[in-house]
Amino acid sequence: MEKIAIINLKGGVGKSVTTINLAAEFGARGLQVLVVDLDKQANTTKFFNALDYDSPSTADLLTCTVSIGDMIQMTPVKNVDMIPANMRLLMANKQVLLDTSEPQQTRLRDALDNIMLELPFGEDEYNICLMDCPPDLDMGSINALCAADWVIIPVDCDEWATDGLQEVLDQMEKLRMYYNPRLKLAGVLLTKYNRTNAEKQVAKDVSDSGAPLLKSVIRYTVKVKEARSAHKPLREYAPGGTATQDYSDLADELLEIVGLNVSNVDTKNGGDGND
Ligand SMILES: Nc1ncnc2c1ncn2[C@@H]1O[C@H](COP(=O)(O)OP(=O)(O)OP(=O)(O)O)[C@@H](O)[C@H]1O
Ligand SMILES: [Mg+2]
Repeated sequence: MEKIAIINLKGGVGKSVTTINLAAEFGARGLQVLVVDLDKQANTTKFFNALDYDSPSTADLLTCTVSIGDMIQMTPVKNVDMIPANMRLLMANKQVLLDTSEPQQTRLRDALDNIMLELPFGEDEYNICLMDCPPDLDMGSINALCAADWVIIPVDCDEWATDGLQEVLDQMEKLRMYYNPRLKLAGVLLTKYNRTNAEKQVAKDVSDSGAPLLKSVIRYTVKVKEARSAHKPLREYAPGGTATQDYSDLADELLEIVGLNVSNVDTKNGGDGND
């Protein structure tokens, strides 16, 4: 299972929209996808209509109170399952810091490793895990970076677009050294893209930081907001739309980067999962 964290300290840059639409694109290609929502705002959870304070969630994952098999829920999107979030994550983040009985940084990684032991298809249960992070470097984000093989940093093409980028890169460097030597940056993703001088400047600022830019960019379109309100991935809400095409291109680019060949992957059901 390739694990990808989607992170930026800046809010509103398209982390959740990217998580949701990449999940749908990978699922449509027959890959089994697990989405993990690590943001107490739970926007991705709400998108999948999975907000519920009684069901196990990522708060339980961080406090090690429920086994991972009991946290996973199916979603209406083909081949996509998820572990939801809710506001209990706020307290859970504090509890992790007070509880030293278990390693604090690797709880998500350990839980994801347990999928192999707990779920019927073991290693083949999921091909890709997408972790949607909050606009913060809290214990949820740290756990995502310790579990991840790859990181995507979405950056919107607004003013101060690259604020916080260096902090994420520095944090990655530290965690790579102490906890997760496999951690790699897939690239910075330009979101809400319009072809103007502002975009050129943001691309230059990213290059100056030394971080690689993904080839795909996600164009600005009102369809993104509309699709989210309709609780539908773009490929369903606006087939043929600009951002729909961009997320499809991004999915292909990422599969190449992480080295997943769709025709060769073993899936638990041969690619015909929950529709
Ligand atoms: N390509 C796009 N075109 C137009 N609007 C977009 C695009 N991508 C994201 N948005 C809008 O930007 C807003 C923020 O997106 P999103 O919630 O994905 O950001 P986020 O980084 O997850 O935010 P947070 O840090 O609060 O979790 C949403 O209203 C969304 O509809
Ligand atoms: Mg979000």
